[in-house]
Amino acid sequence: MAGVHRQPGSKRGLAREMRILALETSCDDTCAAVVEGERILSNLVSSQAAFHESYGGVVPEVASRHHLELVNAVVAAALDRAGTELAEVDAVAVTQGPGLIGALLVGLSTAKALAAAHEKSLIPIDHLHGHVAANFLEPEPLEPPFLCLIASGGHTLLAGVRDHRGFEILGQTLDDAAGEAFDKGARLLGLGYPGGPAIQAAAEDGDPEAFDFPVAMTRDPGLDLSFSGLKTALVYKVRELGPKRAEQARADLAASFQRAIVDQLVAKIGRALDQGDWPALALGGGVAANAELRERARELCEQRGLRLKLVPLELCTDNAAMIASAALHTEAIPHPDYLGFDAFETDRQALRAS
Ligand code: KG4
Ligand code: ZN
Repeated sequence: MAGVHRQPGSKRGLAREMRILALETSCDDTCAAVVEGERILSNLVSSQAAFHESYGGVVPEVASRHHLELVNAVVAAALDRAGTELAEVDAVAVTQGPGLIGALLVGLSTAKALAAAHEKSLIPIDHLHGHVAANFLEPEPLEPPFLCLIASGGHTLLAGVRDHRGFEILGQTLDDAAGEAFDKGARLLGLGYPGGPAIQAAAEDGDPEAFDFPVAMTRDPGLDLSFSGLKTALVYKVRELGPKRAEQARADLAASFQRAIVDQLVAKIGRALDQGDWPALALGGGVAANAELRERARELCEQRGLRLKLVPLELCTDNAAMIASAALHTEAIPHPDYLGFDAFETDRQALRAS
């Protein structure tokens, strides 16, 4: 399924040196940042992972409550670390969606209140545009055009980025996201949450060829992806081995499972590069922090003579600096026109909202 995510009416370049305070609360991290042009002045993340670990995943109501408790302190710390004050920022940016609706509403309401208190503009941002825009930040900002894989806990898609204002979806997962597969796989293997880093760590001592997990969608000629069959294959394998042998084989299971996810992502990136004339590849979203994926992307780009942009790990996972970066290329809504704005939960609403 293809679609174009683009912010209407924004003009590239106009607002490049603006100083922006940004908030991001779409899932379980409470994030605030101050960015000026391409320069990050502060970028704070208060992770709630420890609170959610005992449940094996994010509990939406718990996330909302923690955002409410943390958001003011995280914003104050971001301003303080940037050596600035609310009165000195040019606009306030915030993730409007997609994400957990209660969590989003905490960030959106806070951002509205902060902006309104100083009669500043508000810049509502699509979270996925934020992941793409992480590539526009220092060090070594990437200029479009480029192909961008966004792989996170909620999304997995190949984005064609032709300018700073948006992206075109070239292909996307038909079921689970890659990060979701890591999280569910880790839970099955008793490895904790978040699953990606846990599986990566366990895989270091394992043989990625020990188990032959299915690599989906590679015979399909399109650019869509699928991860739910892989999760089911792991369920059956763990059941077949029984608890004792599954525990003994945990490192091999983790390594083989990770290999199957990365193989599919790399196959689809390769196919998208074949189909387009992209001079550079970028990776975004939490799964872009994965060491095996980063290494395989490096090999792929070396073979093809393409530039590879790998943002630092703290800009792969959710953060507010990427939201500020997207805001520099998005229309600002003047005070008080944004006071009635609502958050949106899903991609479809995201398209309607833009
Ligand atoms: O972008 P992100 O922080 O939040 C969402 O927008 O969903 O992505 C979180 C996801 C989680 O599923 C987590 O398990 C995964 O990114 N992740 C990783 C790694 N670090 C985080 N997956 C694989 N390897 C990693 N090193
Ligand atoms: Zn994200």
